Amino acid sequence: MATAVLGPDSGADILCVDLVRIFKVVASGGQGVEVQALQGLNLRIDPGELVAVIGASGSGKSTLLSILSSLDQPTAGVAWVAGRDLLTMKEKERVAFRRRSVGFVWQQTSRNLLPYLTASENVAAALAITGAPKGAAARRARVTELLDLLEVSHCAERRPAEMSGGEQQRVAIAVGIANSPRVLLADEPTGELDDTTSAHVLEAMRSVNRELGVTTLIVTHDPSVSEHVARTVQIRDGRTSTEVLRSTRLDEHGAEQHVAEEYAVVDRVGRLQLPDEFVTALDLHERVRLALEPDHVGVWPGRSADAASPAEPAHASPRAADSSPPQVDLSADRRETGEDGTS
Ligand SMILES: Nc1ncnc2c1ncn2[C@@H]1O[C@H](COP(=O)(O)OP(=O)(O)OP(=O)(O)O)[C@@H](O)[C@H]1O
Ligand SMILES: [Mg+2]
Repeated sequence: MATAVLGPDSGADILCVDLVRIFKVVASGGQGVEVQALQGLNLRIDPGELVAVIGASGSGKSTLLSILSSLDQPTAGVAWVAGRDLLTMKEKERVAFRRRSVGFVWQQTSRNLLPYLTASENVAAALAITGAPKGAAARRARVTELLDLLEVSHCAERRPAEMSGGEQQRVAIAVGIANSPRVLLADEPTGELDDTTSAHVLEAMRSVNRELGVTTLIVTHDPSVSEHVARTVQIRDGRTSTEVLRSTRLDEHGAEQHVAEEYAVVDRVGRLQLPDEFVTALDLHERVRLALEPDHVGVWPGRSADAASPAEPAHASPRAADSSPPQVDLSADRRETGEDGTS
């Protein structure tokens, strides 16, 4: 079995291996029921990356973020953030971790800012908690610098109720990065905003990531976030399933081309999730046959258990069979997708 390098030696700023979170709830009949919010999630984010995790409601996004911010503890698995092991941290270390190592931006604008303080005072309060920089003048300069970076200097003397939702979220980002965290975590930071304002806030997160190099993870249900980040990870049923990487290339005429490439996530022990449309198209269920080709793996629908002849050995190439069944081709190469991430 392949073993992942864990802890600070992994070089990652966020590392989740087989992360599991089970909630125990009492059902209406009074009996205990388990809800598996995370079911063996794997995720690695390197220093300086800007990554979006996208998933439907209930897929486990907020559960993941609560664990990464050390507000909640996983049931099993491995979780390291900013060089700290979240499973073994003591309560005192958790407080220090939240003060110094991570910053947060939440969906509800009201959760990010104190309503009776102005934008400047909200940022100054965050600085006061960390105790840096020393001295009132240095602190004032840092407040101005942060509000400028987020393009909300015009809101400096306004309270949250006197700002638009987008302005409040940009001030919230300034508060989130005031402690110069290694990692910035955002849970649906644009959930309460319209499309244009959302795009503005996501661009603000991108410039913070680019200019300060802070490792940034955004979780959201909104697929349009993929236009603002280089890497998008899909979360389904508490597991990461596919990733889309975006890059810019020059075509043969020297013009810039934006390319989005979709990958399936393979975990430590080689498991991967087939996309729903593949499963449906070939009616894959129960079992499939696999064949190792020089540069890819072929996946064929398996026979049902009551079929007459026994299954072929896993290493046999079904291509050699007289009548090849329909196949899913999991090439070592990637599937190139359109700009919107679809094939
Ligand atoms: N404290 C809790 N107790 C019991 N079940 C919970 C708890 N928190 C979350 N869950 C369940 O875990 C699953 C994942 O929830 P989570 O809040 O992480 O989803 P999400 O992806 O953030 O959804 P949304 O997009 O609606 O915010 C859901 O089925 C949810 O009902
Ligand atoms: Mg949520």
